[in-house]
Amino acid sequence: MGDRGGAGGSRRRRTGSRHSSQAAEEEARDAPAGPDVGAGGDAPPPDPDQPRVAAVGSSPRELSCHRLQESLFSSDSGFSNYRGILNWCVVMLILSNARLFLENLIKYGILVDPIQVVSLFLRDPYSWPALCLLIVANVFALATLQVEKRLAVGALTEQVGLLLHAANLATILCLPAAVAFLVDSITPVGSMLALWVYTILFLKLFSYRDVNLWCRELRAGARADKPANGAAAQRSVSYPDNLTYGDLYYFLFAPTLCYELNFPRSPRIRKRFLLRRLLEMLFLTQLQVGLIQQWMVPTIQNSMKPFKDMDYSRIIERLLKLAVPNHFIWLIFFYWLFHSCLNVVAELMRFGDREFYRDWWNSESVSYFWQNWNIPVHKWCIRHFYKPMLRCGVSKWVARTGVFLASAFFHEYLVSIPLRMFRLWAFTGMMVQIPLAWVTSRFFLGNYGNAVVWLTLIIGQPVAVLMYVHDYYVLHHEVAPAGA
Ligand SMILES: CC(C)(COP(=O)(O)OP(=O)(O)OC[C@H]1O[C@@H](n2cnc3c(N)ncnc32)[C@H](O)[C@@H]1OP(=O)(O)O)[C@@H](O)C(=O)NCCC(=O)NCCS
Repeated sequence: MGDRGGAGGSRRRRTGSRHSSQAAEEEARDAPAGPDVGAGGDAPPPDPDQPRVAAVGSSPRELSCHRLQESLFSSDSGFSNYRGILNWCVVMLILSNARLFLENLIKYGILVDPIQVVSLFLRDPYSWPALCLLIVANVFALATLQVEKRLAVGALTEQVGLLLHAANLATILCLPAAVAFLVDSITPVGSMLALWVYTILFLKLFSYRDVNLWCRELRAGARADKPANGAAAQRSVSYPDNLTYGDLYYFLFAPTLCYELNFPRSPRIRKRFLLRRLLEMLFLTQLQVGLIQQWMVPTIQNSMKPFKDMDYSRIIERLLKLAVPNHFIWLIFFYWLFHSCLNVVAELMRFGDREFYRDWWNSESVSYFWQNWNIPVHKWCIRHFYKPMLRCGVSKWVARTGVFLASAFFHEYLVSIPLRMFRLWAFTGMMVQIPLAWVTSRFFLGNYGNAVVWLTLIIGQPVAVLMYVHDYYVLHHEVAPAGA
């Protein structure tokens, strides 16, 4: 699909994949044969019969037609163009999923219900605790700005400032957790959303405080005429002129967790780009909701009985069945969040740095995956946690374990509190990444490493999902299977 190279293209690729001596020999022999041979890859494919006619006319009969060469599938052949096979995989994938889609429709009918989504956010139409939490979040941001303003003019000592920031940041984590536990009208999805926003706020204000502290340290060390921000000479803002409401709120809404005084800005808002990302965002939101309701929920509901009966072979069968929709939804979620949503926000704010993800799909090790799939979080971890620990003389191994511990804490925080149960599956899932990273880098290299990374993504997540859903059902509901 999509291969416009035609006959000339495939001939060129075949030639390129042989040993160089054979290729040279062949090129020498074929040289007078016609315009297809050579580097001119863009030349139109010639009439296949034309060169042969010329060759037959001018040279003796072909006494030999064999040469020393490997079969294409042998690794010694050097052949690496499996594009056609990749296309075959895509066609097979579409066909097998079309069958699954039909099977699902025949079995369950249409389960997609947009109205049901509203009930996930609201239990009592007169009580909106999650929304109230989002509004209250402004208080913490403004408190941070006030502390920073006073620190900038020396009205507070650094120790008092540190104490106030620590209290503010601790409250940011505790308040939504307390509301999620104590207020009955908040739904699990509503409290997950509030906790997610508060976690982002925590990471952003942590970064804001760090960068302003670094600016003060630079200012203290610099001569009076030198700007505090290292590269600020030609830039617009230097410390402490950045301590304004506008600057703070720009950072709070910008698609990054790392603060800086002068963010790179794009020259203008590209309307067509923005419209495309917006349409993607809306379409993929619907698609995710539809796939969850139509595909994941019945599969999960049908997994409860095997779990209850401890029927291991059925549990594994259910797990593998859940792995497919779970993985699709996760891939869609990745594109939706990191490409569509973050680009929409960045485009609207003319935020220039669009590196929200790198090529994690080529990961040949678990470490590479964590360095590349979620760049805003990874950047924050490196800048505000990992490097400061290294600078304090902590070993790399301890610093890495520290980062994964913090990440495991936040993953558990975002799942356990909304569900009001502590099972540590998410925490364990993150902590397991450290030995897994060691094992993959030690025993699985190249394509094998890549396959292991995909396998852990495809199988690891549904295990955690099933564990939580099972425990939640056991705690809150009677099991009611939705079909066979
Ligand atoms: C733990 C983690 C931060 C390690 O990252 P890493 O890239 O493997 O770490 P490295 O040792 O290669 O070094 C990273 C940086 O520290 C720098 N560094 C290394 N040793 C250093 C030292 N002694 N002093 C100062 N800097 C040092 C490196 O130069 C590199 O800098 P760069 O990013 O500017 O190139 C990363 O795996 C991670 O982000 N994990 C958590 C991810 C996560 O939880 N994501 C959640 C997504 S939902």
